[in-house]
Amino acid sequence: MGKHPNDLEVELIHPWLRQSHIVLDLGCGQTGKNSIRLAKMCGYVVGVDHKIPSTPMKNVTWIQQDVRACTKKLRPDTMFHFVQARLLLQSLPKEDALAMLRALAGHVRTGGRVYVLTWFQQPSGSFPTHRRTPEGDFEPWTFYRSDEIISTFPDWRVVWEEESKHFGKGRHTGEFHNFFATAVILERPRP
Ligand SMILES: C[S@@+](CC[C@H](N)C(=O)[O-])C[C@H]1O[C@@H](n2cnc3c(N)ncnc32)[C@H](O)[C@@H]1O
Repeated sequence: MGKHPNDLEVELIHPWLRQSHIVLDLGCGQTGKNSIRLAKMCGYVVGVDHKIPSTPMKNVTWIQQDVRACTKKLRPDTMFHFVQARLLLQSLPKEDALAMLRALAGHVRTGGRVYVLTWFQQPSGSFPTHRRTPEGDFEPWTFYRSDEIISTFPDWRVVWEEESKHFGKGRHTGEFHNFFATAVILERPRP
């Protein structure tokens, strides 16, 4: 039994965020609910997804595109205080996901943080064993161990690391019950 993502976020992420912070929410989802929550705590949020909310918000920019391409569009001097990839990486081929994180590491300020929440194992129950890609194909989900995420950010401080077999029945999306997750929070060290 591990820490539920909601608790992790409330205890370890939200208190750390500041009104001056600039945040990147990768795979923000069509409702953008996590970006909207972050926008109440931070100065500015960029939410990227294939499907973005239609409602504009004054301190959020929604960008509709493949997350894997977003690093190519960032100016070299664009720096974030906080980057989150929440329930996104399980949808990507591992080499693409880790390459994207590696590229993003260069866009995190010193002392800034990266939060990854993804799957280390197929959730139980009726969840489908294959995902439908944006192109409509079926592909297997991708699973990650926490050390695979951590080793993508060499020398960063590990703030939190967890591989949890059960985050709690029905507390996540309601789509499935047992949530087999890898959760990692990393901090870019100060020189
Ligand atoms: C399970 S939802 C998670 C949404 C939100 N981050 C959350 O935690 O509730 C996964 C999201 O990732 C998006 N996604 C998956 N692969 C993507 C890709 N290659 N580029 C952009 N968005 C992607 C999907 O469109 C979907 O909105």
